[in-house]
Amino acid sequence: MKEIVPQPPAIVRNQFETIRELFSKYVVPSYGRYELALSHGYGSHVFDVHGRRYLDLGGGIAVCSLGHAHPAITEALLEQSQKLVHVSNLYYQEPQGRLAQALVQFVGPGKMFFSNSGAESNEGLFKLARKFGHNEGRFEILTTVNSFHGRTLAGIAATGQDKIKKGFEPMTPGFRHVPFNDVEAMRNAISPATVAIMVEGIQGEGGVTPATAEYLLGLRALCDEKKLLLLMDSVQCGHFRSGRFQSFQRILENLEPGTSNSEPFLPDGISMAKSLGGGFPMGAFWIREPYADLLSAGTHGTTYGGSPLACAVASKILQVIEREKLADNARDTGNFLKQGLDQLAKEFPAVVRGGRGLGLMLGLELVPEIPSLKVEGKLQSAVFVAKLQEAGVLMIPAGANVLRLLPALNLTLSEAQEGLQIIESVIAKLAA
Ligand SMILES: Cc1ncc(COP(=O)(O)O)c(C=O)c1O
Repeated sequence: MKEIVPQPPAIVRNQFETIRELFSKYVVPSYGRYELALSHGYGSHVFDVHGRRYLDLGGGIAVCSLGHAHPAITEALLEQSQKLVHVSNLYYQEPQGRLAQALVQFVGPGKMFFSNSGAESNEGLFKLARKFGHNEGRFEILTTVNSFHGRTLAGIAATGQDKIKKGFEPMTPGFRHVPFNDVEAMRNAISPATVAIMVEGIQGEGGVTPATAEYLLGLRALCDEKKLLLLMDSVQCGHFRSGRFQSFQRILENLEPGTSNSEPFLPDGISMAKSLGGGFPMGAFWIREPYADLLSAGTHGTTYGGSPLACAVASKILQVIEREKLADNARDTGNFLKQGLDQLAKEFPAVVRGGRGLGLMLGLELVPEIPSLKVEGKLQSAVFVAKLQEAGVLMIPAGANVLRLLPALNLTLSEAQEGLQIIESVIAKLAA
């Protein structure tokens, strides 16, 4: 008689090599991946398929706002999925309306549009700008050198980094790049066709560089003077990561209120994604009141944007952030981490230049061209990230010399301490 032995699923049996094989055979190789296959996580820790634990300071690139497997997200997913997962945007539904109300209250008078990713949110703002300038024949959007605005065709045209564009020319017309944190350069770049300026409050992929308060105020004044829309890409730096809902609120907080300009600073459009859904894919953009009805019925849309399920999850995340005071945590734990990174620069000046960033959007800047990190064809930031991974902590490279920390907003002080200790141990070996 034939013996019936249940076969375990292949992935469980062969683990990392099997998974990598699946990727090499069946997944488009557009990502440079590390030698790591993750299987599950809890809070700010993740586990690989061999059961090894890592402290996740990358947070899925600023996505996992509440960490991994947060019970409130599970509860929101379960509860809403038993009622309504998706309905067309041809109909009204309460979760989208409630989330829009909550987000508008965090920013200022205006309205929300819901999309599915950061790039798509920026696309919406580009369309808003074109609509705004259409009758005058204005269409050009100025962005900044080292910016990142997503991987769609307009997103790569908007992005101020040549490596992102390479091989995909010709670029979508209507974008030019200007040095960051330089209002005069922006002023000089404006042409009769210019209709908007888009900047990140803190450049992320470009190396964790915050805008200065003077820059933001200068851009606002310039946009008012020249009748341009000021658009902010908050996909990475938004959603309380800086310690305030929007990074511009944090950057400008010491100037409010009663500075030269008594009106609180507001851009005309803000794109959002990443931490908004905590891992559930969603994006959004906010449009300031006078322009909020420019995208009238039939001019913009997406099948999945703002589904009841996505909005229920995002609303739950906002409730947890408020209840657990996670904006304050991002600020305090971020300060603690930043001090630790600066201390590393003092102890190991041959390896570390210093820490940068705000709240829980931080960068560790390396000294360029460290001999022990030299690997042919690889950025030293990526080589360093691989070493950190071996030591048990996940971080994200940004450019050649910066490593990003974009952890969950509920990262605890003791987890931050654990991270600093691991980072220090890796640096100490490099410096030895
Ligand atoms: C500032 C910024 N804008 C846009 C994007 C694109 O977002 P998504 O990958 O969700 O399309 C990113 C992604 O890293 C980003 O950091």
